Amino acid sequence: MSNVALAAPIAWSSAPVAAPLAGELDVPGDKSISHRAIMLAALAEGRSQIDGFLEGEDTRATAAIFSRMGVRIDTPSATQRIVHGVGLHGLQPAGTLLDCGNAGTGMRLLAGLLAGQAFDSTLSGDASLRRRPMQRVIEPLAQMGARIDAAEGGCPPLHIHGGSVLHGIDYALPVASAQVKSALLLAGLYAQGETCVREPHPTRDYSERMLAAFGWPIEFAPGCARLRGGHRLRATAVVVPADFSSAAFFIVAATLVPGSRLLLRAVGLNPRRTGLLAVLRLMGADVREHAPRVQGGEPVADLEVRHAPLHGIEVPVDLVPDMIDEFPILFVAAAAARGTTHIRGAAELRVKESDRIALMAQGLARLGVRVDEAPDGATIEGGPIGGGQVDSGTDHRIAMSFAVAGLVARAPLRIEDCANVATSFPGFLELANGGGFALQQHDA
Ligand code: S3P
Repeated sequence: MSNVALAAPIAWSSAPVAAPLAGELDVPGDKSISHRAIMLAALAEGRSQIDGFLEGEDTRATAAIFSRMGVRIDTPSATQRIVHGVGLHGLQPAGTLLDCGNAGTGMRLLAGLLAGQAFDSTLSGDASLRRRPMQRVIEPLAQMGARIDAAEGGCPPLHIHGGSVLHGIDYALPVASAQVKSALLLAGLYAQGETCVREPHPTRDYSERMLAAFGWPIEFAPGCARLRGGHRLRATAVVVPADFSSAAFFIVAATLVPGSRLLLRAVGLNPRRTGLLAVLRLMGADVREHAPRVQGGEPVADLEVRHAPLHGIEVPVDLVPDMIDEFPILFVAAAAARGTTHIRGAAELRVKESDRIALMAQGLARLGVRVDEAPDGATIEGGPIGGGQVDSGTDHRIAMSFAVAGLVARAPLRIEDCANVATSFPGFLELANGGGFALQQHDA
């Protein structure tokens, strides 16, 4: 179903290291911001330049979709895109299925954006994406007047009927989700009247910030955003900070390996993304922020991470939405910590690129770590991590988390199905080895 080239199956082995991790690293650009930059630049009038773009498979899939819909996108360098925007009503029907690859963000945001077009579209993706729930966007978009057909269980492919007259709604999200919020705001660009989205807990506000940067009148505050249809987007320059979620693997790695010191340059520190920093500090981590500054409208800093022994904690439930992508690596930090870590209030992890609670619990259990699964989290007993074979479930963040676990395991880990790391972090293996990992790739 997915026509993004299927990556050949690859496995990694990650071996324990004797030497500390050291060096200064640049992790790739933010995935969430890169998706949105392509979308808004495509709908804007004029030429937008995106610097720091994530050259990952997810974001390339989004760019390819807009190319198919008639938007010229130049690639002067891997991390740059020049988007020749076609205006709010300038997209053309692609005439083919639109393939979002592995990207939930791509699909959910596009569902909102395409609901406002005059033409029909069909969105699909890889096997993982085709299992993910889309009812959460279909239902409120239908309330706005959109017509979207899904496969059984509200899963992709999504067929989005064009030509619907959309009207704004006032919608309280049942589950905190930046993707659903953003889908409704993008549909709201095309809707009559006001679209207002309220969240049970504030989520990342990149769509709101970026809409404002592209000149669309929007009011937003943590937990609430409102806009009206009928304005125009004007081309602008976007600077994408380094992705905190990608930095997270190195933050935990340097924390765990004795003697380590890593400097991670210009990492995005939007408070809706940095829950893991707060949690790691509660566990005893030593992470210092240097040269805090604003880059492209986002707070960034250089993060200096030094080794520190961790102890288990009860993860504050309030922080869960601010670290929703960081639980796989937190499971590893908890396994390597002294004492017990309790994670609750994180049921959303079961509907990410994989069921992240189940896969992390199963993987760690195979390595000899005691993990008790709960419907919305897990209890993890810190202790020695053994060697062995674990399955990433084709989930990029699970693969990278186990690569970090291997650094401090008693024996090498073999991690199956690592090709999808390229969705969010192309070059992870090389960057990690440059910092002192002992990571090898094998054809599976
Ligand atoms: C994202 C929002 C989060 C996150 C995902 C990216 C975004 O998903 O898990 O990786 O870019 O808006 P939800 O909004 O579904 O929680």
